[in-house]
Amino acid sequence: MSIDLSPIDKAKFVAARRACDYVESGMRVGLGTGSTAAWMVRCLAERVQNERLDIVGVPTSSRTADLARSLGIRVASLDEVKWLDLTIDGTDEFDANLNLIKGGGGASLQEKIVATASDRMVVIADVAKEVKSLGAFPLPLETVPFGWQTTKALIEETLVNMDVLGREATLRMNDDVPYITDEGNYILDLHLHRIGNPRQLSLVMNQIPGVVENGLFIDICDAVVIGHGDGTVEIRDINAGLVSEEQIDILESDNIFADPDQ
Ligand code: A5P
Repeated sequence: MSIDLSPIDKAKFVAARRACDYVESGMRVGLGTGSTAAWMVRCLAERVQNERLDIVGVPTSSRTADLARSLGIRVASLDEVKWLDLTIDGTDEFDANLNLIKGGGGASLQEKIVATASDRMVVIADVAKEVKSLGAFPLPLETVPFGWQTTKALIEETLVNMDVLGREATLRMNDDVPYITDEGNYILDLHLHRIGNPRQLSLVMNQIPGVVENGLFIDICDAVVIGHGDGTVEIRDINAGLVSEEQIDILESDNIFADPDQ
């Protein structure tokens, strides 16, 4: 049997597998959301099973909670564990300072709360997620449904004075109805094209009434494990200033699942 992964899935898988090496028995681990994080949950479940790794996972979405439970990972809420050793999550974009745009999967509010409550956040990404400037990927803003059109107008007006290239905000839809987050909120995606000052933008957006949180992760990520389609991974650690590269072998015995998307 040959393992038939597309280059992009291979890149996500090797990043996820390598990041799982950061997990040690006894840890409380934040479990991210998205297709890359789903690989990580599967790799972690494999370690739990094979090595009897004793960990508690704190999921960042109902999707991840369902997946983790179904694979035998012990799951707890953030309120139960209160503080985490490590969070491993995907991203939509990362820059040279390891600042991120997250929330393409609609879970950035819980992801940010969980990552911020962690001693360390390790991001797993395929190489296509690396950017010079954040903003090509639309920036998600989680907003309360009440008065969302007024909130949207206020956001667009505020963006006129910000260092961005676009200012259109669109309501995220799920077929014909607004997408609803796990917290019961809407998401406005901001099409900014380029964000000149992510820190300032994050602070200003969060001042707007109706905005619950934005998808910029500033000074939260500690390290990124970047997967390539040829099975190599690169690790950049902002604190240790470490850059390393290694090859990850995908064994036929690996617990690879047919449908990595969730
Ligand atoms: C979920 O809300 C997001 O923050 C994801 O982590 C991000 O969209 C990356 O997803 P993929 O791993 O599916 O690209």
